[in-house]
Amino acid sequence: MSIGILDSLRRAGPTILPSMLMCNFGNLEREVALLEEAGVQGFHLDVMDGVFVPNFTYGMTIVAAFRKLTRLPLDVHLMIQNPLKYVDDFANAGADVITFHAEAVEDPEKVIEKIHANRLPAGIAINSKTPVRRIEQVLPKCQLALVMSIEAGFGGQRFEESVLPKFTEIRDLVGDRIALEIDGGINAATIARSVNAGAELLVVGSAIFKQENYGRALLDLQAEFPKSDTNVS
Ligand code: DX5
Ligand code: ZN
Repeated sequence: MSIGILDSLRRAGPTILPSMLMCNFGNLEREVALLEEAGVQGFHLDVMDGVFVPNFTYGMTIVAAFRKLTRLPLDVHLMIQNPLKYVDDFANAGADVITFHAEAVEDPEKVIEKIHANRLPAGIAINSKTPVRRIEQVLPKCQLALVMSIEAGFGGQRFEESVLPKFTEIRDLVGDRIALEIDGGINAATIARSVNAGAELLVVGSAIFKQENYGRALLDLQAEFPKSDTNVS
C-alpha cells in the first residue's frame, strides 16, 4: 500500500488542504493553478450523494478532472451511502487517499479492505456528534482519521469546538502512526486551536474561497499556526 503521500503531508507540519466545494467549477484549470501557485500541498474533494447528506456535489468524473490538472495529492472525502460500491471508481479516477464516514456503513472493515486493495491509504471520518468509540475497533487499520468539526453536508458552518478532545482520544488509542485531519469551520480564528489539539491536516473551504487572493488567504491562515518550540529563540 502506498502510504507515502500521507507521510509526506504530515512531515511538512500543519498542512492546509483547500476544500474545492466552493471553487469556480467554470474554470477548474485556473483554480488549480492559482492554488498551486499559492503553495497548497494537496486538494480536498468533497463527494456528497444527497442521501447520506442532504447536499449533492459531484462524483468520480470531477475527481478524474482534478487528476488531469494536478500531480498534488487528491484527498477524497466520501459523504455517501454505501461507499463500498464506489471505492474502485474513485481509486480509478485518481484519488490518493479515500475517506468514508463511519455513520454511512455497517461494516467499515470491508470498505477499508477495498481501499487497501486499491493500494491507497484509508481514512475514516466521524461527524461532530459521533463519538470516537464508534471507530475504536477499526482505527488500527486506518491511515487517517477525519474528525468533522461540523455535521457533514455544507461548507460555511460554524466550528464545533467540543470535537477537539477527539484528537487526543484517537492518539491514545492508536499512537502516532495515524494522520489526523479536521474539516469544517476552519478559519483564522479556529486553526490554531485545531493544531494545538492535534490536527495535522486542516481542510479549509470558505476561509480560502471567500477571499480574492488565495495566496493571501493561505498566508493569513498559516500566520495563526502555533509557533513550534524550535522556532522560539
Ligand atoms: C463539508 C465538507 C467540508 C467543507 C469545508 O461537509 O466536508 O470540506 O466544505 O468548508 P468550510 O471550511 O467552509 O467549513
Ligand atoms: Zn470534506
